[in-house]
Amino acid sequence: MASKLPARITKLKEEKNAIILAHNYQLDEVQAIADYTGDSLGLSQKAAQTEAEVIVFCGVDFMAESAAILSPDKTVLLPAYNAGCPMAEMITVEELQNKKSQHPEAAVVCYVNSSAAIKAESDICCTSSNAVEIVESIASEKIIFVPDKNLGNYVASQTDKEIICWDGYCPTHHRVTAKDVDKVKEAQPQAPVVVHPECRPEVVKTADYVGSTAQILEFASKSNAETIIIGTEQGLFYRLNQANSAQKFYLLNQGLICQNMKLTSLIDIAEALENLQHQITVPEETRIKAQSTLDKMLELSN
Ligand code: 13P
Ligand code: SF4
Repeated sequence: MASKLPARITKLKEEKNAIILAHNYQLDEVQAIADYTGDSLGLSQKAAQTEAEVIVFCGVDFMAESAAILSPDKTVLLPAYNAGCPMAEMITVEELQNKKSQHPEAAVVCYVNSSAAIKAESDICCTSSNAVEIVESIASEKIIFVPDKNLGNYVASQTDKEIICWDGYCPTHHRVTAKDVDKVKEAQPQAPVVVHPECRPEVVKTADYVGSTAQILEFASKSNAETIIIGTEQGLFYRLNQANSAQKFYLLNQGLICQNMKLTSLIDIAEALENLQHQITVPEETRIKAQSTLDKMLELSN
């Protein structure tokens, strides 16, 4: 028997004047009922523009926090209250303040995968799709880049600016090794290897294309390759397969699954809408500062 949950969610969504936003790594059934599925940049843009009263954010906590920062008059819900991002938790405000005092002349760029408090301590935010462009837009020649060292190293390889990387990383993308790329290139020499910049530098260096989840989708839709090797989280396969039925996609490493991104279920979404839970809010003083870092990024990316 087909699940009644999608119909229940649609009804609740209308009753509550809600929009469902889902990240590209969410479970297939969650992506299927979402109003919009995208990468971190696209999701921030949607959250900032929506006229819905309620935003149901199917992703991890920093994403819902960004929506709450950008749309303070909306009710922002995180259906899976315990969905966090281990990388975002690899830096504290105190640690960032210490780093800033060691390099007072440096500007701070924070990856969107960070808490509201870290965003509030930073000069400008970036996502994986615009990190190079954002760093290049800054007047300062010295940049403290937090918290992802892999994305920071990727940016450093694309710019002449001095990048001081924080030592954080995404445990999921960090699992991919250069050996995985060598093996797959030997087995499938014709297939382009496409990776997310959260992968290690030695993986990024040998890949044929590097991009955010939305950029990887765009690459696949423009590519004539019959087979493409995907070096990012497995959830992206839902949209890759939907949009490109003639192509075959293989995961570069079977460990490319983020457990936090898989926590949100259809039941969680229905309950979130029914009970308006779990509401994400940011203290106003932090929110105002964090909004400025996000707004600067959005202005440069629109
Ligand atoms: P993007 O969708 O922006 O590429 O983000 C990847 C990611 O790891 C989000 O947690
Ligand atoms: Fe965080 Fe990595 Fe999961 Fe994205 S994929 S939420 S960066 S742990």
